[in-house]
Amino acid sequence: MAAALQARGLAKRYGALEALAGVDLEVGEGELVGLLGPNGAGKSTLVKIACGLVRPTSGSAEVCGARAGTREARRSLGYLAELFRFPGWHTADEVLALHQRLAGSLGGAAERGELLDLVGLVEARKRRVDAMSKGMQQRLGIAQALVGQPPLLLLDEPTSALDPAGRRTVRGLLEELRRRRVSVLLNSHLLSEIELVCDRVVILARGRVVAAGRPEELARPRGVEIDTDAGTQTFPRASRDDAPRLVADLIARGERVYGVRVLSTTLEETYLSAVGEDSA
Ligand SMILES: Nc1ncnc2c1ncn2[C@@H]1O[C@H](COP(=O)(O)OP(=O)(O)O)[C@@H](O)[C@H]1O
Ligand SMILES: [Mg+2]
Repeated sequence: MAAALQARGLAKRYGALEALAGVDLEVGEGELVGLLGPNGAGKSTLVKIACGLVRPTSGSAEVCGARAGTREARRSLGYLAELFRFPGWHTADEVLALHQRLAGSLGGAAERGELLDLVGLVEARKRRVDAMSKGMQQRLGIAQALVGQPPLLLLDEPTSALDPAGRRTVRGLLEELRRRRVSVLLNSHLLSEIELVCDRVVILARGRVVAAGRPEELARPRGVEIDTDAGTQTFPRASRDDAPRLVADLIARGERVYGVRVLSTTLEETYLSAVGEDSA
């Protein structure tokens, strides 16, 4: 089974500017991957290449086994652009109907009802976009991307404009998408609880992958500290699994143990040091 998204050696130059400098990235089937990086890192460029909106300078991108930009690839993905705007005079239901026509979806009213239910907008189905909060519009945007049940969803900064309550709602939605085994690539320049729902996080800086892994892997161990009557002893190479043995050894040597701390960097620290903004 082909990956939902497979990028290999992806590079993009805009004139003299190198936006992507050879990126490998995979979104497996049913996987929720966060693509994190500061503004200008190349996240939107990568997603636009996957959509076929931007042509790579070199390297390749495939969506469910089809070359990015082909009809087949486009049919397999749903996309929510970074700065989207739906016509203000359309209702939620009309926005989805429009996108059903654009996507050639035959789902009709049943599909629209289901999607509005999924994003919690059933009550607002007759409400005009103009009269919706940012959070509601963002959820409508995600519903729009899901028209036609694409196996891959590309969400470019879906939470950056939202307040904490709006983010929490989107997080719930992402968790539901994961239960439904939709593959998602989520772009963000923020590290928030949303990103922490990702199965895997890829950190991009200056067009390169600088770190990648599961959130708990990226929260690196920094050792174990043990308080004894001789003072605090630090074991910089130790991890949580070593703690019981270290304590047993100290006790066997006749020391008294008053406290044990397993130290780890948070994903946020890893992110900041990976993108080189830790001095800010
Ligand atoms: N159409 C374009 N023409 C020229 N430069 C661009 C274009 N699109 C993006 N860039 C530049 O490419 C770099 C990466 O941009 P982008 O992919 O939007 O990053 P991100 O989404 O991570 O903020 C930035 O320096 C940006 O200014
Ligand atoms: Mg962007």
